[in-house]
Amino acid sequence: MKKVITYGTFDLIHYGHLYLLKRARELGDYLIVGLSTDKFNKVKGKTCYMPFEKRKELLEGIKYVDLIIPEDSWEQKIDDIKNYEVSVFVMGDDWKNKFDYLKEYCEVIYLSRTPEISTTKIKEIIGKKF
Ligand code: CTP
Repeated sequence: MKKVITYGTFDLIHYGHLYLLKRARELGDYLIVGLSTDKFNKVKGKTCYMPFEKRKELLEGIKYVDLIIPEDSWEQKIDDIKNYEVSVFVMGDDWKNKFDYLKEYCEVIYLSRTPEISTTKIKEIIGKKF
């Protein structure tokens, strides 16, 4: 079984997330999502609207996602790849080249982001309207 892994915050889930997950899943047979915990989001400088458990529930409802694990640190990726026997690491190309050091452990693929949608943009739109 070819396992794929990706990481992210996935707050206010949107179609950019959905297309990323769909394309990631198509690269193998099983998709693992490392979902950033609320504590780790603070480390990343992100403020989430939805807490971890809600973001997790939404991801669980997406048919391309097979397993969700918590992402607590920048350093865990090598251990995750080894422990889950991952073949492909995937991220959107806003992270291009940032994880090339993982090529020692598995294939590393950066997928193009879906244009014109992001959590930041949704927050701006909601902020203006309400
Ligand atoms: N992603 C994507 N296309 C978008 C938005 C996100 O492919 N339009 C991908 C990112 O590249 C990443 C994953 O979805 O691999 C999770 O992204 P995340 O940072 O949680 O979402 P963003 O919408 O980019 O959030 P923010 O605006 O807070 O950066």
